[in-house]
Amino acid sequence: MSDAPLPIETRELSKTYRLGFFMNRKVRALQGVSLSVRPGEVYGLLGPNGAGKSTTIKILMNLVQASSGEARLFGQPSQDCAARQEVGFLPENPAPYEYLSGAEFVRLAGSLGGLFGRELDRRVAETLGEVGMEHAASLPIRRYSKGMIQRIGLAQAIVTRPKLLILDEPTSGLDPVGRRQMRDLVSAERARGTTVLFCTHIIPDVEALCDRVAVLVSGKLVKEGSVRDLVTSQVPLVELVIEGLGLSQVRALGEPLQFEQEIGQRVTVRTDDAAGQRLLRAVLSAGGRVAQLSPARFSLEDLFMETVAGAKQKVGGEIN
Ligand SMILES: Nc1ncnc2c1ncn2[C@@H]1O[C@H](COP(=O)(O)OP(=O)(O)OP(=O)(O)O)[C@@H](O)[C@H]1O
Ligand SMILES: [Mg+2]
Repeated sequence: MSDAPLPIETRELSKTYRLGFFMNRKVRALQGVSLSVRPGEVYGLLGPNGAGKSTTIKILMNLVQASSGEARLFGQPSQDCAARQEVGFLPENPAPYEYLSGAEFVRLAGSLGGLFGRELDRRVAETLGEVGMEHAASLPIRRYSKGMIQRIGLAQAIVTRPKLLILDEPTSGLDPVGRRQMRDLVSAERARGTTVLFCTHIIPDVEALCDRVAVLVSGKLVKEGSVRDLVTSQVPLVELVIEGLGLSQVRALGEPLQFEQEIGQRVTVRTDDAAGQRLLRAVLSAGGRVAQLSPARFSLEDLFMETVAGAKQKVGGEIN
């Protein structure tokens, strides 16, 4: 490992928002979150609505002040202007200058980021192509659809080729083609050595792109690790598709079921391997039929659902 400073590091980061006329109502949006993103890594921040993902990102971008704890970018406190020089940022709800055209807006971002002359021209044209917006580049942004605003927001984030990209729900509002382009773009950035932190609700995007993920629930970090380790650390399950017995009859056979579903004449259940074998025999002797028995691939989505359920999640941070 090199001693290069970590692109992102937070230690015991907490944020309490204060609400109301007397500022006496509190929302605990983040509670002691410590995470680190290594150079060149694509890191996914997952969590249900109100989990604290955008708050974490806003603290990193110095748009919100932490109540306690530390947030560092390339080893420098995130409050320092210099720390954000190498960062491209796509906010949760991008609100670009509406009277500028897309091309003018990206050009503005490029020149604020230190590009000029031919290099600026070249990067603006290149970036507009990368996000698929050449055709609408001269249109004023107020005429853009949600997905087009998202694309132009992404273009302003990458135009200077920053070393670190922080993207808050980059695929929000994008059509399937746009989502694929977005994935390709992040892959291309990774291939160039860019570090990426992004949050999303789209788990297949996380599985396709991320080296590591963190799951936040109600402001707390409840899981962190490589996608592969998180998924393979789960106990393997088998899935049985049963016919001829109803769900209540299958339940009455007494085996522990991790998942159950009844659609029409078919009951689908998941259980661990040993219980699966016992259940198979029990179903047959009860007069049912096993139409299918297969290993159930444990997906990141299952893990996410389980983690969130286990953390007894409610929407939003703790309010008191
Ligand atoms: N400016 C604010 N004032 C008061 N409370 C806030 C503010 N911003 C966020 N919160 C609260 O902080 C908690 C975390 O919000 P945050 O926006 O970080 O969640 P999120 O994980 O990004 O959710 P989503 O997936 O819906 O975007 C929520 O309970 C929210 O109500
Ligand atoms: Mg958010």
